[in-house]
Parts: sequence; structure tokens; C-alpha cells
Amino acid sequence: PPKQRLLLVANRLPVSAVRRGEDSWALEISVGGLVSALLGVNEFEVRWIGWAGVNVPDEIGQRTLTRALAEKRCIPVFLDEEVVHQYYNGYCNNILWPLFHYLGLPQEDRLDTTRNFQSQFDAYKKANQMFADVVNEHYQEGDTVWCHDYHLMFLPKCLKQYNSKMKVGWFLHTPFPSSEIHRTLPSRSELLRSVLAADLVGFHTYDYARHFVSACTRILGLEGTPDGVEDQGKLTRVAAVMLGVDRLDMIKGIPQKILAFEKFLEENGDWRDKVVLLQIAVPTRTDVPDYWAVVLLPKEGTSLGIIHGHFSSNRALLGLWTLSPLLKRIALVEGGGRQARYAQDQKLTCQVHEIVGRINGRFGTLTTVPIHHLDRSLDFYALCALYAVTDVALVTSLRDGMNLVSYEFVACQDSKKGVLILSEFAGAAQSLGAGAILVNPWNITEVAASIGYALNMPADEREKRHNHNFMHVTTHTSQEWAETFVSELNDTIVEAQLRI
Ligand code: UDP
Ligand code: G6P
Repeated sequence: PPKQRLLLVANRLPVSAVRRGEDSWALEISVGGLVSALLGVNEFEVRWIGWAGVNVPDEIGQRTLTRALAEKRCIPVFLDEEVVHQYYNGYCNNILWPLFHYLGLPQEDRLDTTRNFQSQFDAYKKANQMFADVVNEHYQEGDTVWCHDYHLMFLPKCLKQYNSKMKVGWFLHTPFPSSEIHRTLPSRSELLRSVLAADLVGFHTYDYARHFVSACTRILGLEGTPDGVEDQGKLTRVAAVMLGVDRLDMIKGIPQKILAFEKFLEENGDWRDKVVLLQIAVPTRTDVPDYWAVVLLPKEGTSLGIIHGHFSSNRALLGLWTLSPLLKRIALVEGGGRQARYAQDQKLTCQVHEIVGRINGRFGTLTTVPIHHLDRSLDFYALCALYAVTDVALVTSLRDGMNLVSYEFVACQDSKKGVLILSEFAGAAQSLGAGAILVNPWNITEVAASIGYALNMPADEREKRHNHNFMHVTTHTSQEWAETFVSELNDTIVEAQLRI
């Protein structure tokens, strides 16, 4: 039978375009958890609809890029610079992202509430409407439309206004915060109502789903049921759909991690002259975040590690590896690259640099410094190679929708059976908690002790813990996640028809 058609609508297409000439384009794989997750979905007839990450003001450019993207089954939504600034940099990444990760609303916007906020929210709605137009243009009867993430909370409503029969699902890749946090958002009600226009709303964990339902009951006064939210006889199903191997997410935690590492060095003198930290900054979200990694390269060939994260979301990963020639090569090859930062990240950047500088001062020698910085990302294969040789991975997200890095680490550890130290505030803690060492990233003493505990863990305990997580990761694939979501969406539609 022909595969079911699935329209995946996300702000970020799986490829980002770089202009090479008037009518020529290079397409690069986009970096990010959402893309990693959705690239694993292959048992559907998939069409992607989204933004190619580039401003294309001219007709020739739009035509040729549309053609180039069609080969990748991608359909572009063209957003001009001003919309990108207000919608993507502004409302999505300066308002919704921090709020959903419990960092609150930006203070400046609070002081100048209505003007800034309102123009960004208007741009957000306008951009969502532009996505809806493109979806509507390409929609065929019988298609399932799956909208993704905080960029597109307005989209379900726009789509249903076009066609109330369209099968529409929406999935959030970040945490959904407690209703006490959500209610600080000036557009709190309008956003919730727009999302509720979907037939099925999905989250990574039960907690996020519960928060969403209680926001709808407390803020909108609607009735929460075990299945979802009911409004005048119309039920919107709310589900927690656990995702497997190819997806991850993030929130701060980098300074906390480095401090914990410093404490570990302090208390474990024999490590002091053996490690080098290598920092990698990924220029994704061109105006926003920094992914970065810190690799510890031991002098005598026993172990090394990585801190990997994303400034804007405060997430990071620290792993400790057995030294391999491969890693040395990666460390040397990854060098230049560009780096862009948002003003909001400057403080954190300075803070991290300060701590890093202090550690270099304290533990460096004439011939070695413990920390090096790289301003670019690793490609996914290099990252997997690093995961595979890692002894201990440390994920210290202060908040994290799911955290794909932890899943990817476990998936690559079949032979080494390395240890995962994982923040209890990452969504992944709910599924990998039994095999990982769970930590509170704010408790630096606990994190430092966990590094020591993990490094000294006996082989049988490592194996037991790893097997537990490996089983989970390999039985919860992206494909399964997508199938579950789509089949729940189908069931919802059938049930809704029975209710009429
Ligand atoms: N990634 C990568 N190279 C890097 C950093 C990250 O390929 O240098 C990939 C990583 O393997 C993961 C995704 O990008 O699949 C990041 O997802 P995560 O959930 O950690 O962060 P997000 O971008 O979703 O916030
Ligand atoms: C997070 C978001 C995704 C986003 C990714 C990368 O995972 O949930 O929607 O694609 O970060 O960020 P970017 O802004 O570069 O798309």
C-alpha cells in the first residue's frame, strides 16, 4: 500500500540554504534536536514545510531555491528579514524559549511591555499565517499535518480556519512550564486557544502534558479530562509521546558544570596536569546560541571528556573519554569558524570565560593549559565517534525538553558501556533515570562527586546501567514516536466523529 502522506511543518527545515550565486544554492544539514528527531522518521511519505534559514528577497532566488529544496522533499516558507527578526529572534527565541525553560520573560520587555511585545507577537502571528498559507497550498485530502514546536503555536488555529477537516497535530520539543510560569505571558490565552485548535497535542513527558492541561483549566477555565482538554463539547487530546534515539534538547548549566569540573580537579589532584578542555561553538540560530563542547585531553592517554551545550538554552554535556587517536585528530582539525551571539548570552559567555580562565590559571602548567576553545560544531559523525569513545557523559541541563545528546550517547555506547550522569531537569531523566546517575545540576558538590563515582564504577554496575538505557533507547525510535503520534491523531479524529 502507498505510504501515508505526512506534512511536517517546522520553523527549521532539515536543510539550510546558502546562496552561491544568483540561481545557485548549497544545502547544508541543519543542526538541532528537532531536525535530528524528525530525520529518523522514514516510513511515511514525508513533505517538509519550513524556513530555509536564509533571506531570499528576489523572484529568481525564490524560484531556484524552491526547485533545489524540492529534491529534498522540502517546501520553503519565505520570511523577510524584518519578520525573522521580530518573529524568530524576538518572540520565539527571546520570549517563548526562555519562558518555557523557566528563565522568565526578558526584563526589558517587561518594562516596555506593550510596544515591543505586541509588535513581536503580531509578527509571530503573521509568520504563522504564512506557514499556514504554504501548508494550505500543498495540502491534499487525506494528508496528516504535523506542526512542530514553540515557533508554530498559532498554526493549528490558522489551519483549521482554512479547513476544519484537516487532520492537525502539534508537538512541543521544549518543556511546557508550570501554569504559574505560563500565566506571566501577556498572550497566554490566545496561544493556548490556538494550540487547542489541533486535534492532538503532544509533549515529551507527562509532566509537560499535565502543565499544559492545568494552564488550560486555570487560565482558560476549561475542563481538563484524563484524555485532554474539553471546550464546549470539543475535545483536544493531550498526550505524552516518548521519543527515542535521535532527538535531544537543552537549558543552561554550563557554568555549573565547569564549576563541578573544577571541584573535581581540586579533589582529584592526579588529574590536574592531564586534561585539556576543548570548546566548540556551533553557529546555529545565526543570531542566537552557542553550542559548545569542552574536551578533556589527558596527557598520559587514559581519559578525556567533553562539555557540549547551547548557551541560550543553558544545556551542556560533559563526557570523559579514553584517549584515542581519532579524538586527537578531531581536536586538531576543528578550528576556525564563525561565532555569533545574542546580547542576552553575553553575560553567560563572560561568566563562562571567566571561570575557564581561572581554571586555566589554577591548573595549567608551562606546557599545558587545561582549556581550549573552538568556534564551530562537530558534524554528526564526528560527534558519534566522540560518543563512542566516551567513558562518562555528563548532561547538566537546568531545563531540557528531552535532551537528545543523552540518547545519542547511550546509543553509541554498546561496546564501552559508559556511564551517563544526567540532570534530573532533563526530560530524558524520566526515561533514562534508572540507568543514569541523576544529579541536581545546581548542586556542584554532588555533580563533582558523581564524576568521581562514575569514573570508578565497577564494570558489572556499568554494564547493568547501560543495558537498561540501551534497551530504552533502541526500542523507542523516532519512527515509533512518529507512528504513535500519527495513529493517536487518527484515533482522535475517529472518536471525535463518534461523539457528534
Ligand atoms: N549536534 C551536532 N553537532 C554539534 C552539536 C550538536 O550534530 O556540534 C546535533 C546533536 O547530535 C543533536 C542535535 O544536534 O542531535 C542537538 O540537539 P539538542 O536536543 O541537543 O539541542 P537542540 O538543538 O534541540 O536544542
Ligand atoms: C531546539 C528547538 C528546535 C530548533 C533547535 C535548533 O531543539 O526545539 O525547534 O530547531 O533548537 O535551533 P534553531 O533555532 O537553530 O532552529
